[in-house]
Amino acid sequence: MRRFWMMIAALLIGVGVVYAQDDAQPGAPGLGDDYFPQLGNSGYDAQHYTLDLTWDDDTNTLSGTVTMDATAAHDLSAFNLDFLGFDIDAVTVNGETASFSRDGRELTVTPAEALANSEAFSTSVTYSGVPGKGVQDFYDTFARGWTRYDDGVYVASEPNGSAFWYPVNDHPLDKATYTFVITVPQPYLVAANGLLTNTTEDGDSVTYTWETTYPLASYLVTVNIGDFMVEKNQTEAGVPIRNYFPQEIFQQSIITFSPTPKMVDFFSETFGPYPFEAYGVVVANRNLGFALETQTLSLFGRNAALGGRGSEDVIAHELAHQWFGNSVSLAEWKDIWLNEGFATYASALWFEDKYGREALDNYMRDTYLALANPVFGPRFIAPGDPPKTDLFNGGVYIRGAWVLHALRLRVGDDPFFDILRTYYDRFKYGNATTDDFIGVAEEISGEPLDELFNAWLYADTVPAVPEMNLKPMLSD
Ligand code: TRP
Ligand code: ZN
Repeated sequence: MRRFWMMIAALLIGVGVVYAQDDAQPGAPGLGDDYFPQLGNSGYDAQHYTLDLTWDDDTNTLSGTVTMDATAAHDLSAFNLDFLGFDIDAVTVNGETASFSRDGRELTVTPAEALANSEAFSTSVTYSGVPGKGVQDFYDTFARGWTRYDDGVYVASEPNGSAFWYPVNDHPLDKATYTFVITVPQPYLVAANGLLTNTTEDGDSVTYTWETTYPLASYLVTVNIGDFMVEKNQTEAGVPIRNYFPQEIFQQSIITFSPTPKMVDFFSETFGPYPFEAYGVVVANRNLGFALETQTLSLFGRNAALGGRGSEDVIAHELAHQWFGNSVSLAEWKDIWLNEGFATYASALWFEDKYGREALDNYMRDTYLALANPVFGPRFIAPGDPPKTDLFNGGVYIRGAWVLHALRLRVGDDPFFDILRTYYDRFKYGNATTDDFIGVAEEISGEPLDELFNAWLYADTVPAVPEMNLKPMLSD
């Protein structure tokens, strides 16, 4: 009898296993982002990436192994990573060889055995090649990821450049922590996100290990190679600062970035405590037409470090992104004004703190006149609906900042800053949408704000601002 029941049990378990494997589904090749349907992949949740890569400075060849630790989100027969270019030598899942196929941005990995729902697994891709080689057809934004220049390398990937140098679930909905193990020839230095935890010399090469304490979105990952010198510092409130400056412009860079510690403390008081283990900047010894808020280590060009016009503005802007963009991240790229409008307005708040309210009002009046100008105004597209092909147009910055200023004028200073702090606190280390922000604004102010947000986010022309006696000039 006992035997009989055991046989029945074995049969049921056997059926169960077969059933689970039959039922396993492949993950989808995207996460449903309206603007970038191919970015990210479903079916799993990435937890940690280890990028163990060696860089050759003569050829700009990158080679090594990237490992992703993840959790299956359902019974999983196959899954995708976003990855472009390179020669792939091997793909494994839990140490066993997996089969793979490639189609554009999508690398599909099929493990020897299906993964069970909630199972933790690890997948490794071993590859080599020159980043960007043969994949220029996929340059549909100005993000290029790994970029070689005369003195070294910088990495700038927003919104979709990470897949040009490592296999990844490339969407801010799936943040993960990182370990970087980067080997370079002497005497280069490596600066990446997080903290430098180990340096090992081996003949002519050096391996730098960097680790992040907090998860980050893939577009905020950066690895920089150069002849840096390090400046260490800390804010009065105790946030550690480490800056990586090119030797040639070290002294000038120190002067240009000297407001940073005070800014960190100012934003911490205004929005909530600085979210990460450290802050600092890395300066590529090349003029760049942009800066990028790479997590814990914002990236700037030589021109910004030399203190050209507007440097302090960009320094505050990239720092403010650590709260808005990096800690509170987008759920969809369409909501980019939640990053750029907030960072632009945060920078204006820094100048308000420094020069007073009248200076802020003058600045906002100037930008309003630009937005309302019949000739130039239409270049600043309504920030709630940015064009897919020009996501970072001036509208998400300038008019995005005005969304916040208009809200402040409507609800008053105390409720406004309460809204910012509550929104930050509620969504920090996660993702948020435009509706999430409007929800917090209405909750705290106790007012319906649909009309205000609709006009500022979506209408073709900017609304009037009765509080400042400003009116659009378009109709006559
Ligand atoms: N987020 C950047 C800023 O602070 C702008 C930006 C968007 C960018 N995409 C980029 C910078 C790609 C470098 C590379 O305004
Ligand atoms: Zn920005």
